[in-house]
Amino acid sequence: QDLTSLNTLGLRAHARALLRYRSPAQLPELSAAAGRYAGVFILGGGSNVVLAPALDCLVVKVESRGVALHGETGSELIVEAQAGENWHDFVAGCVERGWNGLENLALIPGTVGAAPVQNIGAYGVELDQRFHSLVAWDMREGRAVEMGAADCQFSYRNSFFKQAGPGRWLILKVRFGLPRRWRPVLDYPDLQGHPVLEKAGAAASARQIFDAVCEIRRRKLPDPAVLGNAGSFFKNPIVGADVLDAIRAACPEAVAYPQGGGRYKLAAGWLIDRAGWKGRRMGPVGVHERQALVLVNHGGATAQDIGLLAEAIRADVASRFGVRLEQEPVMVGA
Ligand code: EPU
Repeated sequence: QDLTSLNTLGLRAHARALLRYRSPAQLPELSAAAGRYAGVFILGGGSNVVLAPALDCLVVKVESRGVALHGETGSELIVEAQAGENWHDFVAGCVERGWNGLENLALIPGTVGAAPVQNIGAYGVELDQRFHSLVAWDMREGRAVEMGAADCQFSYRNSFFKQAGPGRWLILKVRFGLPRRWRPVLDYPDLQGHPVLEKAGAAASARQIFDAVCEIRRRKLPDPAVLGNAGSFFKNPIVGADVLDAIRAACPEAVAYPQGGGRYKLAAGWLIDRAGWKGRRMGPVGVHERQALVLVNHGGATAQDIGLLAEAIRADVASRFGVRLEQEPVMVGA
C-alpha cells in the first residue's frame, strides 16, 4: 500500500496493509486485524509524521466524519467532532456557525483526531485551552474509553497519546468546550501587527482573526499540496537563564519568551536561521526559504534524507548555541 500521498512531507513510503476506519462498527474487526501484524500505526492527516520507506505494520487511516453540538453548560458550548474530520474545515465550520474559540488555530494541517496527540497550538491558543473530553478506542483491550483533560496529560506539543506511542489508542471523537462569552486572543506579535486586527483591537471578530491567521500562515508556511512539509520540524526549546545569557552575549537580538520559573522559550526558527540554514538544500530536501523551522521535500525524498538534514541542523545549532533541538514530528518505522 503506497503511503506517499498520505503524508504531507510526501516521503516515499509503503505499508504492509492499510485499513480505512469510518465507523464504530469496524472496531472489533480492527482490534482483531491488529493481532495479525507486527504492529499498528494510526494515521490521521499524515502532517506530523516521518514515515520509513517500508512499514511492516498495519496502518489504520482514520476517515470518520461528522460534527455536532454535543451539549451546553452555563459557560461553554460543547462541540463534538469525529476524528477523521479535516482540522481546518472543522475550524472554518465552527467560525461559520458562530462557535468561536478555535479561530487562532485556522489552517493547521491534519485531522481532529490527531490534534490532541501533539496538543496543537498557534497564535496564542493551544488545543488544551479549548478541550473538553475525547473518546478513544483501546486497541489492546478492545474497548472505548472516555478521557478528560487530566487523563490526556497535555503539555507543549505533547500528550499522554504521544508518550504512549503509536498503535495503542485510536482517538474516535473529540469534544471542545467553546466559551459562550468569547473574547479575542490577540497577544501574539504577528496578530498585533496585522493591520485589520490592529484597527479593530478588542472589537475584532472571530472571522477577522480566522482570516488574519490564514493570511499570515499562507505568507510564511509552504502549502503541503505544493511543497511537501510537516510544519515546524523542531520544537521551540525551553532553556534556563544561563543558556539564554550565553546566547545573548554573542547575539543580543536572540528571540526568547519568558516561561516563568527562570525558564525561557527560544525560537528554534531564529536559531536555525541565524546558523545560516534558511533556504539551504541537501539532496532532495531543504530548509524553507521563508521559515527556517520548516523542512521541505523538493521531490522524491525518503525518511533518510530528512533524517540526515535534521541531524546536520541539530549538530550545527548545538555547537553554535549549546542547545540541542528536539524533533516535533513522530518517526514511524526503522
Ligand atoms: N524567526 C526567524 N527566522 C525564521 C523563523 C522565525 O528569525 O526563519 C523568528 C521570528 O522572527 C520570530 C520568532 O522566530 O521572532 C518566532 O517565529 P514565529 O512567530 O514564526 O513562530 P515559531 O516559533 O517559528 C510557532 C509554532 C508554530 C505556530 C507559530 C505561531 C512551534 C514549534 N511552532 O512557530 O507551529 O504556527 O508559533 O503560533 O511551537 C507547528 O507546530 O507545526 C507550527 C507551525
